[in-house]
Amino acid sequence: MDSTVPVPAEHPEQSDGAAAPFSINRRKFVGATAVVGGLVAAAPALAGCGTERGPEDLTTVTLTINGAHRVIEVDNRTSLLDLLRERAGLPGTKKGCNQGACGACTIHVDGRRVNSCLTLAVMHDGAEIATIEGLADGDRLHPLQQAFIDHDGFQCGYCTPGQIMSGMGCIAEGHTGSPAEIREWMSGNICRCGAYTNIVSAIAQTAART
Ligand code: FES
Ligand code: FES
Repeated sequence: MDSTVPVPAEHPEQSDGAAAPFSINRRKFVGATAVVGGLVAAAPALAGCGTERGPEDLTTVTLTINGAHRVIEVDNRTSLLDLLRERAGLPGTKKGCNQGACGACTIHVDGRRVNSCLTLAVMHDGAEIATIEGLADGDRLHPLQQAFIDHDGFQCGYCTPGQIMSGMGCIAEGHTGSPAEIREWMSGNICRCGAYTNIVSAIAQTAART
């Protein structure tokens, strides 16, 4: 089948039956249109890719992480979670949803439990950070870590660092009066494995012994 795009009949130079001044292969025409369209659509993204990062985009933050003094230069857009995992060498804090919905990234900032995926590192210059890596004393686990083992408070373990950091906050805040109260104050921490009953038992036991 001829795939040449016909020049419109009303084209003045074709009205006498002479050969059209130009013709274009349909396949080339469609291909060229697609390429141009794609470039237009991608222009904003391509412009962003080419943007150089300048010194104004970087900030040096000083943090105390699990008792250690750390000075780290970060891109201003870096979340506290990414700083811990990718810059501070502490991958124990997990990234689940990365949008504040699962609690896997829970840490303590100046003694308060925080979803570290939802906050920028540069907002915490001078802060005291506690992560799951800082709980054990050598080989001796924190009582809540031990309680999670004793009560089978996990299966895959992915949510566990966040559950334990949040559980510590729950205990410190005094929200352990009943299983229902623990569930309420731990409701921001999701466990896909469904270990909730055992997590509540581990927190209740630890609170009772604290
Ligand atoms: S990773 Fe932060 S709340 Fe899910
Ligand atoms: S133990 Fe698997 S997600 Fe909680």
